[in-house]
Amino acid sequence: MTALAELHVHLEGTAPPDLIRRLADRNGIPVPDGVFDGPDRFKWVDFLDFLRTYDRAATVIRTAEDYRDVTYEYLVSCARQGAIYVELLVSPDHAQSVGLPPSEQQAGVAQGIDDARRDAGIEARIVLVAVRNFGVQAAIDIAQSHAGERHPYIVGFNLAGDEAGYPPAQFAPAYEIASRAGLGCTVHAGEHAGAGSVREALTLPVTRLSHGVRAVEDPALVQDIADRGIVLEACPTSNVATQVFPSYEEHPLRRLYEAGVKVTLGSDDPPYFGASIGGEYAVARERLGFGEGELESLTRTAIEASFADDALKRALLKRMTAKDGRSNL
Ligand code: ADE
Ligand code: ZN
Repeated sequence: MTALAELHVHLEGTAPPDLIRRLADRNGIPVPDGVFDGPDRFKWVDFLDFLRTYDRAATVIRTAEDYRDVTYEYLVSCARQGAIYVELLVSPDHAQSVGLPPSEQQAGVAQGIDDARRDAGIEARIVLVAVRNFGVQAAIDIAQSHAGERHPYIVGFNLAGDEAGYPPAQFAPAYEIASRAGLGCTVHAGEHAGAGSVREALTLPVTRLSHGVRAVEDPALVQDIADRGIVLEACPTSNVATQVFPSYEEHPLRRLYEAGVKVTLGSDDPPYFGASIGGEYAVARERLGFGEGELESLTRTAIEASFADDALKRALLKRMTAKDGRSNL
């Protein structure tokens, strides 16, 4: 089986109900009302409701140690599934909203990455994510405050949240700052809005698209994405769970791949959608018709399109081909 790599997972969205409860207990606070629908299920009915539940659940993640634990537990679980690299979307807005300075949040995440590397041999980096429904200025502030000195694990910039309500082009000033500062850029588009949103997103200085799969609505756009070598961070289980597509069989991942678009796999918000990175590879194999060699090419694409530095990419590619699969990082 091929090694796995994932470019698209929201860190706050990796914490399962059990961990959300443990963190709330440790911090001496109740889990906010409306977060759970049973002992092991988050409560949400549609995408915007999911975003609200996500925000509420994330309020129990309060300290650097909490961020360390969320990061560590997620990465170790990925390593057990065969993953060698994960790019974590980390939201400074969520830290700030509970009074945690983003630098402390990032120190906690970095500790989780270091501890997971030590214990499980997995590597990870941080992509900062702004929430579009918090407004253009908040996104600019995040880009601006990380344009100079920043933690070396911070390698990229992304924009999440309510795509349909907050189209991408207005965030161009944030992207200009992030891109000029040397951060790799990607943006949520073509998930809960259509091909027009993807076209607009491509006016930003991005090399990847988070989701991007609704580009399939416009064949000329698909061709453009393929020609430009833009890489899609596809999350099929998330898309089926939030009803972007009615079933795996109707998911366009295979069609996009066959049209020459570079694609990768991500779990997005694993416990909310019943997803995991190993599960996404299994879906691609069992439901979407990808063979072993093709799955390996998805991992290779993920490593090549990652925002990690060249030395780490080379080490990861070497590890993919190492017969014993052991870490040489
Ligand atoms: N924030 C957390 N998960 C998200 C998703 N799938 N789309 C947009 N914003 C998000
Ligand atoms: Zn996402």
